[in-house]
Amino acid sequence: MTQPAIQVKNLSKSYGLTLALRDVSFEVRRGEIVGFLGPNGAGKTTTMRILVGYLPPTSGTAIVDGYDVLKDSLEVRRRIGYLPENISLYNDMTVEAFLEFMATIRGVARKRVRERVRAVMAQTRLDHMARVLIGKLSRGYRQRVGLAQALVHDPPILILDEPTVGLDPRQIIETRQLIKSLAGDHTVILSSHILPEVSMTCQRVLVIHQGQIVAEDAPENLAARLRGSERIRVEVRGPADQVRRALEAIPGVLAVIPEARDGVASFAIDCAVGTDLREQVAEAVVRGGWGLRELRPVGMSLEEIFLKLTTEEPDGNTGNPGDNREGA
Ligand SMILES: Nc1ncnc2c1ncn2[C@@H]1O[C@H](COP(=O)(O)OP(=O)(O)O)[C@@H](O)[C@H]1O
Ligand SMILES: [Mg+2]
Repeated sequence: MTQPAIQVKNLSKSYGLTLALRDVSFEVRRGEIVGFLGPNGAGKTTTMRILVGYLPPTSGTAIVDGYDVLKDSLEVRRRIGYLPENISLYNDMTVEAFLEFMATIRGVARKRVRERVRAVMAQTRLDHMARVLIGKLSRGYRQRVGLAQALVHDPPILILDEPTVGLDPRQIIETRQLIKSLAGDHTVILSSHILPEVSMTCQRVLVIHQGQIVAEDAPENLAARLRGSERIRVEVRGPADQVRRALEAIPGVLAVIPEARDGVASFAIDCAVGTDLREQVAEAVVRGGWGLRELRPVGMSLEEIFLKLTTEEPDGNTGNPGDNREGA
């Protein structure tokens, strides 16, 4: 098996007394489009800023393309294209000059700069804006410049923080199409606080709430879970196949989903709504003579979180583009 594009283990981050991320672990496979879905303040931006090496974690590790974000941040940045939440752009530069500048500082070979800039301007439909000053661009075009600068050094991994916020419906469709067209030869993580947004673009969704991953699934399964089931996560030291069969035999268990973790048999167990099968699961593991390493309910509050997501208005005017330094 090839190494995953991104490996995050037990990541925590506090800002003073605010615990923004608590023990977050996940992996992203190469070529995958993964969505971070969560209400405002969930910890999406914090996770992304750690992944791109802008923010050190309080504890835990993040490995991007085999490189540790803390120890090898230069290697990491070379491999990642990052669209920050509120990008600051150089208003007195033309689109083309800005992209050439970004290509150069990201290490694109001198003789390839023009070719790369032309390519990303075509990809993001900016060609006709090449000579326009960035300060004169509309919100939609500024966002395209943001995407173009993330792509200009041709990175294999893209981290896009709320890429469609503030765009009009037509621009949203175009941006989604662009992101989908990058799939396959790019690994993409994008964040959103709007459920349909990630459902339409992503193959897998991590639901983040109060600094924790509370659910992880394909968009269609998330919808099914919203319609009704409870989920338990269990980690067992024992032969995965036998453990799985024993779990599936418990009355009330709807599905047992294996989640590969090095050497340990880890499963998500879907149970009928309103049931708590933790004791039965523990009993089955003990009866099998295996070691029970972890047993906890997950996604119990999923419904509540989804309500927050879907009732929230897309916020087109948050933040102040002037006070953010992430653009360069
Ligand atoms: N620079 C900061 N200083 C203090 N608290 C912060 C800072 N950035 C984020 N936070 C807090 O961390 C939590 C997660 O924020 P963030 O990662 O921006 O969430 P999201 O992107 O999901 O909206 C929130 O409670 C937020 O108030
Ligand atoms: Mg954010």
